[in-house]
Amino acid sequence: MTDVKMADYYERRAPHYDAVYARPERQADIRTLQRLIPAALTGRDVLEVAAGTGYWTQFVSATANTVVATDYNPAPLAIAAAREYPRANVRFGRADAFALDQVAGDFTAAFAGFWWSHLRRSDTDRFLRGVCARMRPGSAVVIVDNRYVDGSSQPVTRTDQAGNTFQRRELPDGTTTEILKNFPTATELRTAVDGHGSAPDIVELEYYWLLTFTV
Ligand SMILES: C[S@@+](CC[C@H](N)C(=O)[O-])C[C@H]1O[C@@H](n2cnc3c(N)ncnc32)[C@H](O)[C@@H]1O
Repeated sequence: MTDVKMADYYERRAPHYDAVYARPERQADIRTLQRLIPAALTGRDVLEVAAGTGYWTQFVSATANTVVATDYNPAPLAIAAAREYPRANVRFGRADAFALDQVAGDFTAAFAGFWWSHLRRSDTDRFLRGVCARMRPGSAVVIVDNRYVDGSSQPVTRTDQAGNTFQRRELPDGTTTEILKNFPTATELRTAVDGHGSAPDIVELEYYWLLTFTV
């Protein structure tokens, strides 16, 4: 289900968003992801879901054949569109991650960065169904997100009956918003892929996990 409150939070956070990639303790992991993500998408026609400001798009562009970078919100997409890319192979479009049938293109890969954690546990199946419906057989699906790290991650402030966890997020204008942020285990990720794809592979870094599977 589209989470309008969360989408609005990211619309307002867009000008500040990239600061998340400057956190000193995470630099080694980020360098590793900058290598692993483009390597997994080499030569592919990539549908990028919830692309945000295009931070990962710039690395994907270097190795992919083409990239269609989509996001629900205009503000992060405008930042993404203004960015410089290594190659002229990126196109941008607004799209709800739950309505990927609306995106024009023919895809051999999907990539979603830091989006899975914002899915309700009950929505992951529907999300993956929508993604896989857009993939040619043999496509690669690549998903990266945060692990919960005490002292570095924002604390979880609430857990609902379904096991979804939430954080209180503050923006520079002083407003606070409760945001859904789930931290699945590797076993939960493997189970989620069941019925959608094969050969799930999960790399667990200190701060991040990276899931790849074949459609
Ligand atoms: C945590 S950010 C990740 C941005 C980018 N992928 C990255 O890794 O830097 C989550 C993104 O999801 C977008 N978003 C929120 N709701 C969405 C929806 N229903 N469909 C697609 N994108 C959505 C937000 O605008 C935001 O850019």
